[in-house]
Amino acid sequence: MITPRTTGIIGVHTFGRMCDVDALMDVARRHHLQVIFDAAHAIGCTYKGQYAGSFGDAEMLSFHATKVFNTFEGGAILTNNDELARKMRLMKNFGFGGYDEVIYIGTNGKMNEVSAAMGITSLESLDAFTAVNKRNHETYTRELEKTHGVTLMQYDEAERNNYQYIVLEIDPEVTGVTRDDIQKVLWSENVLARRYFYPGCHRMEPYRSYYPHAGLLLPETERLTTRLLQLPNGTAVGEEEIAQVARILNLTLGHGEEVHKRLSVPG
Ligand SMILES: Cc1ncc(COP(=O)(O)O)c(C=O)c1O
Repeated sequence: MITPRTTGIIGVHTFGRMCDVDALMDVARRHHLQVIFDAAHAIGCTYKGQYAGSFGDAEMLSFHATKVFNTFEGGAILTNNDELARKMRLMKNFGFGGYDEVIYIGTNGKMNEVSAAMGITSLESLDAFTAVNKRNHETYTRELEKTHGVTLMQYDEAERNNYQYIVLEIDPEVTGVTRDDIQKVLWSENVLARRYFYPGCHRMEPYRSYYPHAGLLLPETERLTTRLLQLPNGTAVGEEEIAQVARILNLTLGHGEEVHKRLSVPG
């Protein structure tokens, strides 16, 4: 995919599972490219024992309210490059170098005090939230281990993880129902399972019009955007809720073809 116009690579630590950092850094070194990592999901996660935030030219964390650590809205850029850090500090404050002088391009990327205060309390709770997420992930794994056609994403136990994402991969050939059928059933029972990254960036504007055939280059993305479903996690979820979700899933899968047929009827 690398052409003479390529200047860098963005790796995404999707669902908090770290990229193959060494392999991407190796490609980048050979082609003299920058590497930045989207670590939006990866606070508290490690690669070969080293925390997300310390790889490549820079890494970005998201502190959005949906993340395990949050400041309502916000985020951080982490880098070991002092010159890049200096420029980004200018950029987040309109490029102001002093009271009356703008010396660089800029935008308003400052964090407000209320968000910062939320961040401090969120930081104090991070280990406790992670422990709850881990316990819930173990419970989901136990509850769903005998469910055919459904695979629960596992984390590398040799690393540190924040365990925030409970990701199911549904194989419709085995279950007789699609991921979308299962989501409809769960929503009707008030379980807000999500289709993260559906339908995929390449299927949204402006990329859809610029690259109408992008899907042909992205067979894995296409496959996963129709098969993945994220289940609820966090401190509002416990053993009882997970058992209930598992009961709904098993009931749906136990009548897979019938559920699919009924949900396919228009109206
Ligand atoms: C992988 C990934 N990258 C980036 C973002 C954007 O983060 P933010 O909403 O803090 O801008 C998200 C948000 O959900 C995300 O999931």
